[in-house]
Amino acid sequence: MKTVLTGITTTGTPHLGNYVGAIKPAINSSRRGDVKPYFFLADFHALIKSQDPQAVQQSTREIAATWLALGLDTDNAVFYRQSDIPEIPELTWLLTCQAAKGLMNRAHAYKAAVQANEESGEDPDYAITMGLFSYPVLMAADILMFNAHEVPVGKDQIQHVEMARDIAARFNHHYGEHFVLPEAKVDDHVAVLQGLDGRKMSKSYGNTIPLFLPEKQLKKHINKIKTNLLEPGEPKDPDTATVFQIWRAFATQEQTDTMRKEFENGIAWGEAKKQLFELVNDELKDARERYNELLENPGYIEEELKKGAEKAREYSTPFLQKLREAVGIRPLG
Ligand code: TRP
Repeated sequence: MKTVLTGITTTGTPHLGNYVGAIKPAINSSRRGDVKPYFFLADFHALIKSQDPQAVQQSTREIAATWLALGLDTDNAVFYRQSDIPEIPELTWLLTCQAAKGLMNRAHAYKAAVQANEESGEDPDYAITMGLFSYPVLMAADILMFNAHEVPVGKDQIQHVEMARDIAARFNHHYGEHFVLPEAKVDDHVAVLQGLDGRKMSKSYGNTIPLFLPEKQLKKHINKIKTNLLEPGEPKDPDTATVFQIWRAFATQEQTDTMRKEFENGIAWGEAKKQLFELVNDELKDARERYNELLENPGYIEEELKKGAEKAREYSTPFLQKLREAVGIRPLG
């Protein structure tokens, strides 16, 4: 059976864009019987971006609670925390010794950091940690540890999956065929949601609508979505409107067609936002209640993650043993 694996860096609070673009499709795939899904909280990755221990823990708790509240099937999917799998950092080292430095030099995130330094007249290495530089190796270990065939990711992560492939091929060439060569899967049908200001919804733009806001706040946020000055009764272009774009991500085809007509008939922005709030709120309200219960009960979340780690290690422990053997880390007797 095909192994499908993806990780979520534990920084920040999940927002509607994460939900529509990644969480919802992943949870739906967890209920399919024809793939073996691995989903994990990439908390080692979080340390690259955040040095605030409280924030890392809080985000881990919120992201885990989000996935569980939305109905992730943890009997079928293996749901775990990266840092609970000691084989991952160990594999990271084995791969580090196969990864070409020149390959890492080409990683987008690292190159962007160097470029920003050069533009501001700093030393090119200013504030760049080895964590950032070798981030793609850690990600390769995440993927190769479970011999994932497919890695569903956003466009920005394709390069990293390709690097994992490269590193795997090199390891295989040197030590024998141990790793499946993984492939990035970018789902073009999944919506990339716009945020409050019309740009891509992203934490780095500060334009997000957090997923499980209390109802009143959700309404407030939706009311803040940028529109234009067209009056009620004036036709509006649905295809350039963030309100419509978010509507479409939550609505059925029929509801989408109806809203498109409403736009052509000049629905008032206030009315469109009111309907959008109701649609989004209806989809999320039960999960929001479970989410809040889960946050009150972190012991339960912890148990779920421990259960996931146990399942994951049934694979990773013997596999790493084999890899150690392969590279010559062996008992002497
Ligand atoms: N780097 C990914 C991101 O920021 C998260 C991630 C870590 C990941 N390890 C992974 C994704 C392995 C897929 C597979 O989005």
